[in-house]
Amino acid sequence: MGTYYLRSFGCQMNDHDAERIRAVLEAEGLRMVERPDDADVLVYNTCTVRKSADERFAGHVSAATRLKRERPDRLVIVCGCLPQAEGETFLARFPYVDVALGPQNLHHLAGELRKRLACRRAGGEEAATMGDETPDRAGFFADGPHLSADLPACRERPFQAWVQVMSGCTNFCSYCIVPYVRGPERSRTLTDIVADVSALVADGVREVTLLGQNVNAYGGDLDSALRPDFAQLLRAVDAVPGLARTRFMTSHPKDLSDEMIAAIAELPSVCEHVHLPAQAGSDRVLKAMNRGYTVREYLDRVAALRTAIPDVSITTDLIAGFPGETDDDFAQTLDLVRAAGFDAAFTFVYSPREGTAAAALPNQIDDSVKRDRVQRLVTLTQTQARERRQALVGRAYDVLVEGAARQPGRLRGRTRQGVTVNLNGQARPGTIVSVQITSATSTTLQGQVVGG
Ligand code: SAH
Ligand code: SF4
Ligand code: F3S
Repeated sequence: MGTYYLRSFGCQMNDHDAERIRAVLEAEGLRMVERPDDADVLVYNTCTVRKSADERFAGHVSAATRLKRERPDRLVIVCGCLPQAEGETFLARFPYVDVALGPQNLHHLAGELRKRLACRRAGGEEAATMGDETPDRAGFFADGPHLSADLPACRERPFQAWVQVMSGCTNFCSYCIVPYVRGPERSRTLTDIVADVSALVADGVREVTLLGQNVNAYGGDLDSALRPDFAQLLRAVDAVPGLARTRFMTSHPKDLSDEMIAAIAELPSVCEHVHLPAQAGSDRVLKAMNRGYTVREYLDRVAALRTAIPDVSITTDLIAGFPGETDDDFAQTLDLVRAAGFDAAFTFVYSPREGTAAAALPNQIDDSVKRDRVQRLVTLTQTQARERRQALVGRAYDVLVEGAARQPGRLRGRTRQGVTVNLNGQARPGTIVSVQITSATSTTLQGQVVGG
């Protein structure tokens, strides 16, 4: 009985949360549909990290408004970081939204949904219009934060799983809204995480991705004499029998310890990929961003990774046009890119976020300058990525097959380094096969299955 449409934006933590949202919807007997027009319940899991993220939700607002007007008994639920950032303003801005839930309030979704579905089923359309007889519009519960990791998940692929090891962030990089919407860093216990991973492996999972906004700060907030750190967590997860691959995201340069590097180098399941956002290449800007490292320290960590892990892939995030960034500061970001040799980079135009320290700084940069700078970063990082990919041609890599590629008759999967490969040959999704790389672009590899 009933259908739902779910759209999730933003980071992997939101993808993780979306799998929990799906599990709640399916547990209520709702069936997923591809088009919002076919849905009784519309759910948007939002991101607000940059203005462009807000706009992606805004692109869906008119459709949701129209559908709600057409059939007021439809439910519109908005989860994620946008309602959390805006609070009551959000409900005022979007009067047709029935339920708004921040990322730490997802445990209320089942109850709120059940109340409204029961009301719909009992009273039909009349009782479900937004009058006094229906449940009040709901949002912003005061019972304190909860970890969405505690909710059951409906996984996108049976052989891959997100595992949240901590929530929140306490770094307060001056441009970033995440600490305000996700709350302070809170680590789960090592025992809970290992129990989760063991249960997932027993359920057919071959690859886990350990998630945290600053995953390698894991354990820092735990109140125990034997406080575990991220390297110990990697060792404990790797020891779970039957787990083929352990990934992790996102690593912060200031918390990348030698022990962590050694753990990545030694542990068979831990993949040779570190996403290590540099953000900028000038010490002055890094300081203003409150990143907690210098360019020299960043490049030292890159060198330590490359020495210990010969095949490591290092990817990054970069911001162009932070307030006060001069041409010379920006030129230093280009220098850092050249020196580090990234396998891939996400490049962003600086976007002021209300309530963050950087939004109040003088010397905000003109849009045209920001766009010009980001374009130069895109060109450089793509050229670099293409060269690094092309150097892989002719070699063989283990690929975890994820499913069908966009091109008919081909499969797609990923190397341990996290690079997407489109492949010719036969293999079941969820298996790991050896693939000979035949060609490369800046983003993907092409290859041929050469062994199981
Ligand atoms: N916790 C992760 C991810 C944070 S959000 C980390 O620390 O790396 C992902 C990326 O978005 C950041 O790395 C940063 O490059 C970018 N970002 C965050 N806030 C931004 C803003 N206000 N403007 C532009 N880019 C931003
Ligand atoms: Fe934002 Fe910095 Fe925390 Fe990443 S580490 S989520 S960029 S405050
Ligand atoms: Fe976006 Fe929230 Fe993630 S703001 S980047 S979905 S933590």
